[in-house]
Amino acid sequence: MSLPIPLRRSGSPTLQDQIYRFIRDHILSGAYRVETQLPSTRELADSLKVSRNTVMLAYEWLTSEGYIETRRGAGTFVCRVIPDAMLSPVTEDRKPPRAEPDLARPALAYPFEAPALSLRGPQRPQFDFAYGRLDPRQFPIRIWRQLASGALAQAERALTEYGEQAGSPSLRQAIGEHLATTRGVVAPPEQIIITAGAQEALNIICRLLVRDGSEVVVEDPTYAAAASIFESYGASLTPIPLDESGIMTDHLAEARASLLYTTPSHQFPTGMVMSLERRRALLAWAEHANAYVVEDDYDSEIIYDRPPIAALAALDQSRRVIYVGSFSKVIGGGLRLGFLVVPPELARPAVAVKSLLSYGQPWLEQATLDAFIRQDSFRSHLRRVRTLYRARRDAVLQAIPACFGNDATLTGQDSGLHVLCTLPDNLPEAGAVAEAAAGVGVGLYTPRRAGARSFSAAPNALRQFVIGYAALTPQEIAGAFGRVSKLLRG
Ligand SMILES: Cc1ncc(COP(=O)(O)O)c(C=O)c1O
Repeated sequence: MSLPIPLRRSGSPTLQDQIYRFIRDHILSGAYRVETQLPSTRELADSLKVSRNTVMLAYEWLTSEGYIETRRGAGTFVCRVIPDAMLSPVTEDRKPPRAEPDLARPALAYPFEAPALSLRGPQRPQFDFAYGRLDPRQFPIRIWRQLASGALAQAERALTEYGEQAGSPSLRQAIGEHLATTRGVVAPPEQIIITAGAQEALNIICRLLVRDGSEVVVEDPTYAAAASIFESYGASLTPIPLDESGIMTDHLAEARASLLYTTPSHQFPTGMVMSLERRRALLAWAEHANAYVVEDDYDSEIIYDRPPIAALAALDQSRRVIYVGSFSKVIGGGLRLGFLVVPPELARPAVAVKSLLSYGQPWLEQATLDAFIRQDSFRSHLRRVRTLYRARRDAVLQAIPACFGNDATLTGQDSGLHVLCTLPDNLPEAGAVAEAAAGVGVGLYTPRRAGARSFSAAPNALRQFVIGYAALTPQEIAGAFGRVSKLLRG
């Protein structure tokens, strides 16, 4: 038995990604019905002339996401129960485009679906450890309403005329002052551009520096959204492995990239912090290779058990770091506010790209955030949420050994809003635990489902969860893991 998967053998996406997507898309479109038997990993690997490991990895992703299941002695089958979240865009009246449309249409340059950011409405589990979700009860709504209404009262022409394409000068200055004290990054407002989150900042960087065939180095594993953005501009990705000090800079010698993307302060998804030595080695490589380094500093304001570490951009003598900041983790993703700090020579081209994209960010959100930072409300908000999230993090640290046993390991717990948990060998794989947990109202997510992309078959990859705890109280966290614990022991 075989599957007609047209594989592109060089560049990205990887072979396992292509196999995964082909099968997933055929299941979602109804082409492979429930109970359809798939070829064994050996058969498929032989027929596609790829390694068995590649197929196994693709099957493991499909299994962990609930698309397929392997029955001992019988084979691999399309699942009886496809996860609701996956089915939602494929209801009867909103079927995805068929592989062979009735009428010819121009081929799309980007034919993929938007990733599900998190489950909504009744699909959301009662206790949801989805990464990236904050607690709506903690949004500073009273002060935000007051500041927004104050800004509106003084809007004058701000809403009827275009503002500066780089963003509000006052907000850029406020961000610059905040960054200098908290992250050691010194930049004049002319080098700061306000963006629609880190997401748009990465798109601007790509528009400036990535073209078809450009090599971009990423950490392995990395933030899937960033990898997809680079690929959407035609980049070919070079994944570099990590160890406990961060990206293994020794492996960079071969890289011919002009761009490297990293999350040094709290690696996504592992949560590791890049050592000072590695930071220096990375900057030395960038200088030697004549490359830019993109530092995604998405959650560095939230630290618990260690002093803040200066940003990579603060160490950068040769001005090769492009710093990406976001307010999604500290205030909320719905704001869609972030920023770029670029080296001086990129400032004008970056503003030109921002102008191409949108002519600048909406005025009201910028004015409100500006007042929020200037009135010191931001600092007190940060103090408050750090204490709150620390208690939630502590609840996770307590619940994990009780639920998964003392051999479960955690990384990344010193800061941020998630930890990476690796299950011990005596428990089922993470995908199976997540499926069972969903049945008792607990949402647990494998790294892939939490927005990470892995390029290699790491031995632990199928035993891991990214646990996002920001939206749940310590009591809810204890209750949720109590339910999972009962399941595992029951
Ligand atoms: C690694 C990483 N970068 C950036 C972001 C924030 O993205 P945005 O500012 O577009 O919401 C996230 C949020 O999930 C993230 O995990």
